[in-house]
Order: sequence, then structure tokens, then C-alpha cells
Amino acid sequence: MGKLHGKVALITGGNSGIGLESAKLFAQEGARVILTGRRREAVDEAVRETGHDAVGFVGDIANLDDHDRLVALARDRFGRIDIYFANAGVITLSTFQDASVDMFDQTFAVNVRGTYFGIQKALPVISDGGSIIMTGSIASYVALDSHNVYAATKAALRSFARSWAKDLRDRKIRVNVLSPGPVRTPILGKAGLDEAEAQAMEEMVSQAIPLGRFGEAEELARAALFLASDDSSFVNGIELSVDGGMAQI
Ligand SMILES: NC(=O)c1ccc[n+]([C@@H]2O[C@H](COP(=O)([O-])OP(=O)(O)OC[C@H]3O[C@@H](n4cnc5c(N)ncnc54)[C@H](OP(=O)(O)O)[C@@H]3O)[C@@H](O)[C@H]2O)c1
Repeated sequence: MGKLHGKVALITGGNSGIGLESAKLFAQEGARVILTGRRREAVDEAVRETGHDAVGFVGDIANLDDHDRLVALARDRFGRIDIYFANAGVITLSTFQDASVDMFDQTFAVNVRGTYFGIQKALPVISDGGSIIMTGSIASYVALDSHNVYAATKAALRSFARSWAKDLRDRKIRVNVLSPGPVRTPILGKAGLDEAEAQAMEEMVSQAIPLGRFGEAEELARAALFLASDDSSFVNGIELSVDGGMAQI
């Protein structure tokens, strides 16, 4: 029997990268998966790739009305959510000196406000004993060039996990953060880097990783599975770094 047999898993940002690999792995492990993203075609393709009757949802996590629609979908289809994996996020790159108000507001609107109220709105349908996982970043505790605004959004998620683990104690809901180091996904392209720039960045950054390479989305999915499943039944309020050792030395 799969590690998530009979569980309902909602994965935001499930149409790409870490979220997509998690959707596939969770479904293989027996979960009924709802996956979300902004791009309809990518959501449809992810549903096909995930199989196992996965359900797709198109929406913007910065738009709180979309969360109402998403919670209604989960309630109507499955009656509950056992695993809420708040993984959707954007990376924006700028120095402190050059950061614009628009970029700051947009990054916080997606990564912090969208995650916060998305989970808050889902609480009535999250099962007692459920698992909430948020995707953080090692950038929140290691100063990486031009990551300062993004890093602060991820530090906020880490802080929420501490508070919510306490706030949700009566319902035995566990809240943890999965913090990737550099992982090969489409995210750098979305942040505006072309292929050559992304490649150059990967070569340079890999030198700072004891394992000497970027992570793969599948490796993050396996860590997400740990936090989602009963294998982590006594793990609560932590930040699990999966970074090849980059931020640990
Ligand atoms: N890759 C890394 O090196 C790395 C390192 C540390 C942390 N992370 C974090 O890991 C998470 C997943 O990123 P990834 O690397 O797998 O990148 P990715 O492939 O670009 O995935 C990001 C996902 O978030 C979704 N998303 C972004 N903005 C959204 C919005 N406003 N509303 C709804 N969905 C939105 C995207 O959907 P669309 O594509 O449809 O917009 C996509 O599914 C993010 O939270 C990221 O910050 C990544």
C-alpha cells in the first residue's frame, strides 16, 4: 500500500518543477491529487502526466477569490484536504538598492499573502491530523546575491510554521517548511534569465554546494513525501533543508 493511500493532497504550483514531481509521486503513493497553476495548458499537461484521476485547477494565488474557488473544488470533489502543500512561488532578483515597490509588493502578494490566506481559507476543510507543508528556501537564512526580497518572503513562511504549529495544536495538524537549495526547474527562466545565463549561474553556484551540483525536482518531491506522510508523524514546526549541504557548512 502506498504511503499516502486514501489521502487527499492539494499541491499549489503543481504544474511545474518541484510541485509537478510531487504531484506525480504523491499520486503513485496513493493520494488523490488536486494540482494548481496559473497556466491552463501546463495544468492540463500536469494532470495527464500525474494520472490517477488527478484534478487540475487554474488560478492565481495572489487572488484571494481564486482560493475560495479552490477550496470549494476540494470540498465538492473530496470533502476534505489531508495534505496542503503550499508550493507555488515566484523568485524575483534585485539588489536592495534597485528594488522597486511594484516588485516588492508583487513578490509578497504571491509568496506571503497568497500562501497565508490560501491556507487560512482551506483550514475548515483540512482534516484534523493533516499535514501542511510550505516551500521555503535556504535563501531565507543565507544571504544570496540579489535575493533579499525573495528571501524575506520565505523567512515569513518559516515564521508562520512556528506560529501555526502552535495555533493548530488542538487539531493535531502538523506544519512544516521544505527549504530547497538550488534546484533545476523552470523558475530561473521565469525570473528573466535566458538559458546561457541560467547555465552560467548553475556552474558558479554549484561550486558552493558540497555535492557539487543543483538538486533535481524529484529529490525535493521525495522530501515532500516524507513531510506529507506518516513517516514524519512526530515532525512538526521544522524547516527541512534539502540543499546538497550548501547552507549547512
Ligand atoms: N528551483 C529552486 O532553485 C528553488 C529554490 C528554493 C525554493 N524554491 C521554491 O520552490 C517552489 C517551486 O518552484 P520551482 O523551482 O519548482 O519553480 P517552477 O517550476 O517555476 O514552479 C513554480 C510554480 O508556482 C506556480 N506559481 C507561481 N506564481 C503563481 C501564482 N501567482 N499563482 C499560482 N501559481 C503560481 C507556477 O505556476 P505557473 O508556472 O503556471 O505560473 C508553478 O507551478 C517555489 O516556491 C520556489 O520559490 C525553488
